[in-house]
Amino acid sequence: MLAALIFVVSGAGGAALAQDKEAVVKNREALMKEQAKALGTVKAYTEGKADLAQAEASAANLTQTTNKIPGAFPPGTGGPDSEGKFATKPAIWSDWNKFLEAQKTAASKADALLAAVKSGDKEKVAAAFGDLGKNGCGACHETFREKLKD
Ligand code: HEC
Repeated sequence: MLAALIFVVSGAGGAALAQDKEAVVKNREALMKEQAKALGTVKAYTEGKADLAQAEASAANLTQTTNKIPGAFPPGTGGPDSEGKFATKPAIWSDWNKFLEAQKTAASKADALLAAVKSGDKEKVAAAFGDLGKNGCGACHETFREKLKD
């Protein structure tokens, strides 16, 4: 009787966990896509296709989203994204401090981007944009993200 009860309880718990993981993966993708969109708006600004207010809002958004990254990767949520395009690498959790370092680097480069946008100097914005994209987002993806298909 007790064994049956335990079985039922842990079975339900397992289903809830699977659902939680799905939600985490969805939120994580949404966060990353929000970042890509914000970065795209800043790029559009450097090309004269978005205005300063839009660029500033996007850069300010990036200073917040980059700091939400650690919370979007709770342990036990590794695996492919919902489209099977990218996957997390296990090193995120086995080397969590290095992952945090990559996140902090990206966050500080987002701060620098916001400062550049506020200066209104498009050359500075372009440089800070490139730095964040390559050495912030790109560096973390290089180490901690696996590309599954195009
Ligand atoms: C500290 C590490 C880290 C940083 C910094 C980071 N990412 Fe990611 N990103 C990941 C990992 C890991 C994945 C793969 C997991 C996934 O796709 O859910 C990913 C996936 C993505 C994806 C694919 C999302 C999807 O649909 O699955 C996009 C787009 C993306 N990142 C954009 C960005 C941009 C833009 C930045 C910089 C502003 C950035 N990321 C910064 C770790 C990072």
